[in-house]
Amino acid sequence: MRHLMNPLDFNVEELDRLFDLANDIERNPAKYAHACDGRILATCFYEPSTRTRLSFESAMTRLGGRVIGFSDANSSSAAKGESVSDTIRIISSYADICAMRHPKEGAPMVAASRSLIPVINAGDGGHQHPTQTLTDLLTIRTMFGRLDSFTIGLCGDLKFGRTVHSLVNALSRYKNIHFIFISPEELRIPDYVTDMLKEKHITYEEVIRLEDVMPMLDMLYMTRVQKERFFNEEDYVRLKDFYILDPLKMMLAKKDMLILHPLPRVNEIAVEVDDDPRAAYFKQARYGVFVRMALILTLLEIEV
Ligand code: CP
Repeated sequence: MRHLMNPLDFNVEELDRLFDLANDIERNPAKYAHACDGRILATCFYEPSTRTRLSFESAMTRLGGRVIGFSDANSSSAAKGESVSDTIRIISSYADICAMRHPKEGAPMVAASRSLIPVINAGDGGHQHPTQTLTDLLTIRTMFGRLDSFTIGLCGDLKFGRTVHSLVNALSRYKNIHFIFISPEELRIPDYVTDMLKEKHITYEEVIRLEDVMPMLDMLYMTRVQKERFFNEEDYVRLKDFYILDPLKMMLAKKDMLILHPLPRVNEIAVEVDDDPRAAYFKQARYGVFVRMALILTLLEIEV
């Protein structure tokens, strides 16, 4: 039995197979419409979500399966003090696979260690968000045509943004990628990420001004400032609008640069940018359904 805790849990060949499957599901949805008949997905979300939870639910429903779960810790017995370990022991009797989001780093890993069914980390605190990374990689591979040889700018809250940590980790296995980390001083990418890049001799730079690097980018991965991870409101208010991508800044970008964002967006991309053909973030969210369908089939070892 396999779980997904970290994007590195799948090797590059396994990821290629997963993305081929996701692309096939997009092209031939009817072929997969009954692949999970009789199967149940549990979505255990101890933190708010729109895309991750609903795309998992959509994925299982489109595969013919059913979904149970909770979207708020307070509506589960966590509110009475039940541990994640006990919860997953129970869920193991009710469902065939579980997607779990939790504010505490490592909680889905604890669940996986006690689980009798595959557990998918749907985001743990400021740590990892592997299914967002799968979504990001599928989007890049499908829209850019490859997963190597490009310059990617990651902009915004690089300190608390778990999607950034997961994505850099995953991309570090592909050749000839140059990372540009764009953030205010207070929200710099953690040292453990840059240490990993140094160890692998992968080139990166850290800058504060987005405008300075815009013309160099093949891809720009924008992120919101993570309000829920700040200890004080004052710091959040000071930093939340540090970057706003607008049509004026887009004039500095390459004609085919992709704009990615895991969403939700707050203010960091002006809505006028949505009509720019380079804006890929809504398509990216759509790819999240296909990649989660492929992931459910893979973890349940269902071949179609
Ligand atoms: N990208 C993402 O994780 O969005 P949600 O928080 O809405 O699930």
